[in-house]
Amino acid sequence: MSIGNIPELKAYFQDMKDDPGRKINNLGKLFLWHISCRISCILAGSMNKNIMRGLFMRLLKLIFLGGALISLAAVADQKDQPGQYHPGKEKAISGVENDITGTYKNWKDRKAIEKSIANGMESQYINYKDVRWLKRDEFNGELLREEARELYARTGKTGKSCASCHGSNGEELRGVAAKYPTFDKEYDRVIPLTTRIRNCSEKYVGAEMPEDSGDNTLMTWYVTDKSDGVPIDIEVDTPGPVQDAFYRGRDLFFKRVGQFNFACASCHTPPTVLKQLRGMRPSTPYGDAVSYPIWEFPAHPERHYLLTMQLQIKACQAAARMKTSHEGSLEYTDMEVFIKSLSNGYEINSLSSYYGETLD
Ligand code: HEC
Ligand code: HEC
Repeated sequence: MSIGNIPELKAYFQDMKDDPGRKINNLGKLFLWHISCRISCILAGSMNKNIMRGLFMRLLKLIFLGGALISLAAVADQKDQPGQYHPGKEKAISGVENDITGTYKNWKDRKAIEKSIANGMESQYINYKDVRWLKRDEFNGELLREEARELYARTGKTGKSCASCHGSNGEELRGVAAKYPTFDKEYDRVIPLTTRIRNCSEKYVGAEMPEDSGDNTLMTWYVTDKSDGVPIDIEVDTPGPVQDAFYRGRDLFFKRVGQFNFACASCHTPPTVLKQLRGMRPSTPYGDAVSYPIWEFPAHPERHYLLTMQLQIKACQAAARMKTSHEGSLEYTDMEVFIKSLSNGYEINSLSSYYGETLD
């Protein structure tokens, strides 16, 4: 699949080609990883346990995480040449049952998850559904829901609120989140839910609500929450703009870019995925999107402790020293279409927690 005639994407690929950081080879990556581990060991050695212990541990965790991320991908990428696609692109097709890691059977429904836990299976083989699905029984997000209801019913300059048009409890929005990103006539392109909500807020409520704002994230979660239990259904199987976005998104996911010349796939597909290295255990990307926006406490207080899919993509790009873009961009929307379609057929699970803490 080519990138077609979309100038924004063409420029993006060209930038990647010209990026001098791409010359760093695998030995370089391993060296950088080694240095970051060394630094964290020295810091650990000189640590005074009584002084700012919590903060220090957090910093150490970050350094270790960086080292682990780099080494994970370096190990996976040893044989690849710069500028290529990570192998296996064609095998990444939509539908949760097409999971490339073969773990789907362990987490396909509640019964399977419970059985996997009873068998003492490690979380990465259950796609963290032991945390994300079963823990929700004690993690219901009611406080967050109250906050969201208040914003949903808040009137703006037009004298209207979301509630004026979409039902006092958002009941008319059930099922909507399972279909986004989708094609929008006004924009004449595929847009994510965040852009739909920004547009509605500006046009009909008279309140600014940019994609990367806390208000937008809260409303995006609220609308998604209305689709709890609805299977994801991104329309990638019929030819059209959404399918085109899927292929572009998949290309972006497998293309090796940035200073370390990683692809998203370097870490998120075989042979690296599921491998344990220094405490990092990436799980399959299939079935992840049902949990987003996801509760990640105490990160992102300005976003109500919620992490949207596009903010997660941006965070991974930054960690892997790739060029970042902005939420709502064509590039992130294409990647979201690809990643979300890997959850097609799997039910939205709101509210999920990244690590499994309880809310209240
Ligand atoms: C004055 C009425 C009005 C208000 C107020 C309004 N919307 Fe909308 N909304 C619409 C219309 C009409 C559409 C269909 C798309 C369009 O024409 O822009 C829509 C579409 C949507 C959709 C997509 C539905 C689908 O089936 O694809 C979502 C989600 C949504 N609105 C959320 C919100 C949120 C959240 C707010 C508050 C910030 C809001 N809307 C405020 C009228 C409104
Ligand atoms: C250097 C390794 C690395 C690279 C490159 C990388 N990621 Fe990640 N990513 C991780 C790790 C580690 C996690 C957290 C563990 C997990 O959940 O799999 C993560 C988490 C994620 C998640 C959330 C998964 C979940 O379980 O909720 C998504 C989505 C994601 N990454 C997408 C991407 C995209 C898109 C790219 C490319 C722009 C990318 N990642 C590049 C290592 C990487």
